[in-house]
Amino acid sequence: MESAGFHVPVMVREVFEAMKLPKGGVYVDGTLGHGGHALEAAKFIQPGGTVYGFDWDIKMLEIAKGRISGIDNVHWNTFNIPFFDAPELLSNLNVRADGILLDLGVNSGHFDDPSRGFSFKEGPLSMKMNESSGEPASAFLNRMTPYEIESVLLEYGDERWARAIAKQIVTRRKEKPLRTTTDLVDCVLAAIPAGARDKRIHPATRTFQAIRVLTNSELDRLEEAFMGFAEILAKGGVLVILSYHSGEDRIAKQFIKRETKSKDSHRFVSLFEKPIQPSAQEIRFNHRARSARMRAIQKVA
Ligand SMILES: C[S@@+](CC[C@H](N)C(=O)[O-])C[C@H]1O[C@@H](n2cnc3c(N)ncnc32)[C@H](O)[C@@H]1O
Repeated sequence: MESAGFHVPVMVREVFEAMKLPKGGVYVDGTLGHGGHALEAAKFIQPGGTVYGFDWDIKMLEIAKGRISGIDNVHWNTFNIPFFDAPELLSNLNVRADGILLDLGVNSGHFDDPSRGFSFKEGPLSMKMNESSGEPASAFLNRMTPYEIESVLLEYGDERWARAIAKQIVTRRKEKPLRTTTDLVDCVLAAIPAGARDKRIHPATRTFQAIRVLTNSELDRLEEAFMGFAEILAKGGVLVILSYHSGEDRIAKQFIKRETKSKDSHRFVSLFEKPIQPSAQEIRFNHRARSARMRAIQKVA
């Protein structure tokens, strides 16, 4: 679901009810995207509040900057760097945050542009969120062993047909290396029998998710980032994590458990026993919200 072509922010009410941002407060957005959540945060902290926003995709950052430029009773600071590097930068600036959001993964702008390689429409098999560094998805798929491909599809995509899909990729690339998103879709369609397909999603959804996570090393420094952000919270401040697949959510869950349940953990509390999910009404309005899981941790000392 789109609103004027912008990414529709997920679980806005739940995120800001958990954060309880004060007027004049400091909000950090590690995944600024189209700025949807940041614009909502501004309503709580204005006048005089401060936002620090990060996105490693310069195209997303430019869109966000265009949207926030009209709101001048908030101090906006935006950075085109990965959020892994944000805690150190913020700490050097002596920032103490009242609320921090990590809304993980891709945004609808990535899917809507076939030239980025995230959608099933014909385009180069890139999937790079940060276009200025790293290798495209095709490079990984054209050199990995069948076992490596299968493991990635299982671990990052929970794909039941991982072995068959890996076999198709390896067989087909002998004829011609994979180049486009359609090449990858064709491998998946050849691997999953029509009768076994989940009718609710495109058959290649899990494969594309897994290969995207691999291409962008999305899980590699996640826990380190969670820790870093938790450290820069002010007392009473809240870190909210929105994840969209089991790999991300598992890391968020383990991080929160470790920080709140071990015997010498008295500085943080978990705000929810179980992850919060979007309402049926939100999912009806924004189908892309369906897999969201929200967890939150508060600094108490
Ligand atoms: C789900 S979207 C965020 C949408 C945003 N909350 C909004 O309302 O518009 C995630 C964004 O995070 C960015 N992103 C993903 N991983 C990142 C990372 N490691 N560092 C910085 N940005 C990242 C993506 O480029 C994408 O724009």
